[in-house]
Amino acid sequence: MKTKFKIRRSDPLKAEPYWQAYSVEVKEGMTVLDALLKISEGDDPTLSFRRSCRSAICGSCALTINGFPKLACSTQILPIAKETREVTVEPLSNHQVIKDLVVDFTPFWNKMEKVTPFLLPADETRKEWVIKKEDEKAIDRAQKCIMCGSCNAVCNSLDVDPNFIGPAASAKAWRFVGDVREGHRKKRLERLSGEHGVWDCVRCVHCTEYCPKDAAPLEAIERLRAKAIEEGVVENPGAKHVLSLVDSIKRVGRLDEAAMTFKTLGFLRSLGMIPFGLKMEIHGKLPHPIIFLAIEGMKEVKKIYSAVEKRRKKG
Ligand code: SF4
Ligand code: SF4
Ligand code: FES
Repeated sequence: MKTKFKIRRSDPLKAEPYWQAYSVEVKEGMTVLDALLKISEGDDPTLSFRRSCRSAICGSCALTINGFPKLACSTQILPIAKETREVTVEPLSNHQVIKDLVVDFTPFWNKMEKVTPFLLPADETRKEWVIKKEDEKAIDRAQKCIMCGSCNAVCNSLDVDPNFIGPAASAKAWRFVGDVREGHRKKRLERLSGEHGVWDCVRCVHCTEYCPKDAAPLEAIERLRAKAIEEGVVENPGAKHVLSLVDSIKRVGRLDEAAMTFKTLGFLRSLGMIPFGLKMEIHGKLPHPIIFLAIEGMKEVKKIYSAVEKRRKKG
């Protein structure tokens, strides 16, 4: 079946990126990477792209295929072509393009380096550790990461803040923070809870949705946040916000926005929010800051809290 490929190309010597179309004879079982190889070995040897293992292991062939990040070597063409009639191939978003489909991974590797991607054991002299099944399970998904960059490509927080640590490095961070042998957990969590750290994730779930290896970066971020609070790393707006939310529900059964702002930002920084708060008040979007009544059914809320507390103590 003849299939049209529209490839987003960029030449460092030309100002603007452009689309180039190719027609490829596609057979059952062919992947997008097979088609790119066919094009570069025949029609157009100038087309640039990365690949190595051709087996969904090395992570080097991640591209935007028909609008979504995928591994070119494990993406079959025919199901896409039958549905959309053509296949579009673009470089990964949120990455600087070097040429055609090749993007600059320097910021990606720099962030990996920032999270110290290796174990710093608590006891270096210990020869053997017996890891319990449940402890291994906690880091199991994060270990599957092949560092393809697909999650970073669809991350909404990275889109607005290129310095955000991002889902890929967060998954790697959890792989070591969550390891029972790790000896510098708190120090790692303090770094991860700082500016551009894990609290800047807006929980859009894109990273987990598009990860080709089920490494679940958002789950890693949530675990890192929970562990940070557990270890007492709470002197940051993200942790304070969560703690004030828990406190607000426990107290009145709903969000006490005014109190939460003060608890999250502190007194001085909250003063800057007053004009915004007044506007919300005028539009009826803010509950009265003084007359703030608890919801009916607080008994039920308290029951839930005490059940959660009991379960937490049990472990
Ligand atoms: S977490 Fe998934 S999407 Fe992100 S780099 Fe690792 S394998 Fe790729
Ligand atoms: S859930 Fe968080 S880390 Fe994942 S893509 Fe969304 S903003 Fe980024
Ligand atoms: S070529 Fe290695 S993952 Fe695709």
